[in-house]
Amino acid sequence: MSEIQPHNVLVLGAGGGLGQAMIARFLTDPQVEHVIAVSRNGQTEDLSAPWISNNRLIWIESEYDEPSMLEVIEKLAPYAGSIGRVCICHGILHDDHFWPEKRFEDIQPDSMHEIFHANTIIPALWLKLLHKTLAGKAPCIVAVFSARVGSISDNRLGGWYSYRASKAALNSLLKSFSVEYARRLKNVKLIAFHPGTVDTDLSKPFQASVPKEKLFSSAFVADQLANIMASAEVDGQLSYLDWDGKTIQF
Ligand SMILES: NC(=O)c1ccc[n+]([C@@H]2O[C@H](COP(=O)([O-])OP(=O)(O)OC[C@H]3O[C@@H](n4cnc5c(N)ncnc54)[C@H](OP(=O)(O)O)[C@@H]3O)[C@@H](O)[C@H]2O)c1
Repeated sequence: MSEIQPHNVLVLGAGGGLGQAMIARFLTDPQVEHVIAVSRNGQTEDLSAPWISNNRLIWIESEYDEPSMLEVIEKLAPYAGSIGRVCICHGILHDDHFWPEKRFEDIQPDSMHEIFHANTIIPALWLKLLHKTLAGKAPCIVAVFSARVGSISDNRLGGWYSYRASKAALNSLLKSFSVEYARRLKNVKLIAFHPGTVDTDLSKPFQASVPKEKLFSSAFVADQLANIMASAEVDGQLSYLDWDGKTIQF
């Protein structure tokens, strides 16, 4: 078990459906002192958000270029060694100017760059820049939102070239980080996490073909992930897990 009491939580890419659900979930945990959220946007003005006026929530804005990420790292200095959970939630699948590729003729270099930047490069930059913040004696569990479609062995349908490849590349990077972290940050455990199909903006256009019982609420998945993180062992390995805690083959 990786429980530490009390501890702080960091949610990166906090403005999306799953990021917000992770914030709400961790704020219900009395062992959590502060939730530090990082997003391109300011805190929501939606007064119905369960965490809107919670003074344990610290909100930081970032453009996710390296200088602005370094500014975030400076702001995290007071919390160094006391962050017990990190969720890296960045991810894009579609936008107003691109769509997941159905066939290889659909591949567009600009869209591919954009997808790799958000899904692969930004999470890797966080893991590069966070090492001093996370180093310490207390266990720190880091969950990076990947996807089952990033599994090369599970790819039977093809398509979604950029998204699939960006998540497969993310998994590969996480494996390399886990090897080096096992030497240099022995208190940190990395998890590549597949949340299932979750009712957020990312999955909205694809939900029609998903059976009702397989479309999860973000609150359900946040609870699942918080429990998975609480029971994770700091073993120097990368785990690739789904929402149910089951291992996915790379
Ligand atoms: N929803 C699903 O069914 C599903 C399934 C499998 C995997 N996932 C993965 O779960 C994670 C969270 O997805 P979600 O469903 O919560 O999607 P979402 O609601 O669309 O949120 C996407 C997140 O990605 C960040 N982001 C978007 N564009 C970005 C860009 N250009 N640069 C950097 N960050 C950017 C946003 O951070 P800001 O706070 O800065 O806006 C936001 O938090 C993603 O990694 C996704 O691939 C989701």
